[in-house]
Amino acid sequence: MSLEKTAFAVRENAYAPYSQFKVGAAVLSEGGTIYAGCNVENIAYPEGTCAEAGAIAAMVAAGETKLNEVFVVADSKQPVSPCGGCRQKLAEFGGADTKVTLANLDGARVEMTMAELLPGAFGKDHLGDGHADRD
Ligand code: THU
Repeated sequence: MSLEKTAFAVRENAYAPYSQFKVGAAVLSEGGTIYAGCNVENIAYPEGTCAEAGAIAAMVAAGETKLNEVFVVADSKQPVSPCGGCRQKLAEFGGADTKVTLANLDGARVEMTMAELLPGAFGKDHLGDGHADRD
């Protein structure tokens, strides 16, 4: 299945009884595998998790830590805008040029790079020396 189809399909499984806002995310890993995630809400509202976090967790659980492309979809008027936390989570595993596609159910799409999604991202350079690199 394509990245887009995977994101649309997994969105159907979102558990969003409180917001009624289902989100699907799919990431393409460097190894060429597609990982899917949906939002999973909780009666204790802050315990809910975003679709992007689920897709990233699936990728890392499978032993991969680099992603080459991202697709996120929700039933929003404008293509869904990932929350700030998810932008930082995606930036951890993607590069500045990683392609990110945001979509809604009506066919609207916005394509951007990771650097455009999270300009001025907090990164390892801010930590300075003495901190472990990820590689
Ligand atoms: N949500 C996501 O899963 N990803 C986004 O990019 C935006 C927001 C979820 C969180 C919550 O379950 C619902 O959408 C409403 O905020």
